[in-house]
Amino acid sequence: MKRALPPVSKTAAMTFEVVAQCSSSKARASNMTMPHGLVETPMFMPVATQASLKGLTPEQLDDLGCKICLNNTYHLGLKPGQEVLDTIGGAHKLQSWPHNILTDSGGFQMVSLLKLATITEEGVRFLSPHDGSPMLLTPEHSIELQNSIGSDIIMQLDDVVATLTKGPRVEEAMYRSIRWLDRCIKANKNPDKQNLFAIIQGCLDLDLRTICCAEMQKRDTPGIAIGGLSGGEDKDQYCKVVNHCTNLLPRNKPIYCMGVGYAEDMIVSVAMGVDLFDCVYPTRTARFGNAITAEGIVNLRNKCYEADFSPVEKGCKCPICRSKEDGGMGITRAFIHHLAAKETTGAHLLTLHNVHYQLELMRSARRAIIDDRFPQFVKDFFSTLYAGDK
Ligand code: GUN
Ligand code: ZN
Repeated sequence: MKRALPPVSKTAAMTFEVVAQCSSSKARASNMTMPHGLVETPMFMPVATQASLKGLTPEQLDDLGCKICLNNTYHLGLKPGQEVLDTIGGAHKLQSWPHNILTDSGGFQMVSLLKLATITEEGVRFLSPHDGSPMLLTPEHSIELQNSIGSDIIMQLDDVVATLTKGPRVEEAMYRSIRWLDRCIKANKNPDKQNLFAIIQGCLDLDLRTICCAEMQKRDTPGIAIGGLSGGEDKDQYCKVVNHCTNLLPRNKPIYCMGVGYAEDMIVSVAMGVDLFDCVYPTRTARFGNAITAEGIVNLRNKCYEADFSPVEKGCKCPICRSKEDGGMGITRAFIHHLAAKETTGAHLLTLHNVHYQLELMRSARRAIIDDRFPQFVKDFFSTLYAGDK
């Protein structure tokens, strides 16, 4: 039976409209319009930590059809710093990026990057990586920095604990994240231009996730993220948490699964109703010589590709795999193998292929949802992936 589409959600800085729903799963296609244009979901958002995707120019990313990328508040706050950001007029100007930007709030990066970060009710304390001096990132300061960055989606500062943590610390972090959301909402100076997203925490505890979903929903932010995942949990646990949250969250707001970007995880999560993803994996793994393909990962450093003059992925429409006659670069596996770790060009080329793969995977999922053939799309995706598992 066909369910009615949820009502369009319209706030000052975002219109979110579900345009199609799968009739046998929670998958949906939506149009998200923000100050820097339209984002069609499901969508993978590449990570440009330092206002740049490692190895790609903003123009190359634009040419891949990317309409939203991620920047990190923590990194941009340190360099170029708030003063420069205010002078230049934000991160869009800094990187000449005409499309949307999402910034993560910074706490997660500090806790995962800096062993010395400690969390109190006030905020996240850490030692400056520049001079070792003590610093404090509060919810207010994170939002102030994100206001200076001018990103279209800003994330609340949250208290993140490792996914597999058990006991009272999980509950403490979840409730603290709710209190910090209230402080972030108060601190946001540009609610008419910048969409603040809440982040659901609670690790693998479904009761805590239930409480968090209800509390965050009351705060009525333009979108909601599911955080605290991708931290060593098994697939079954991951699915239980995501499915639980998407059952509870409103259907007329975007749902973003943070730090998730393996192709198979994204496809399963789209079926559970997730709209947005981000992950450093496709760009990072390119630097290790790995190409993401429909049949699985191909490591081009492997000697068997030394004299393989086929494209990185047969039939791929990315700028490196397409032939010269077809307007592409006609790059071969042998060339990438030859460049290996010594020449950064190999990593740049593979980054183009991998980011294209991720964006195209989400575009084809969207087409399948709109044509109401998403279940068949999922079957075909997995049979091709496992056919490559020889
Ligand atoms: N990136 C991946 N997971 C998380 C999370 O739980 N919180 C934040 N802020 N960023 C993340
Ligand atoms: Zn390609």
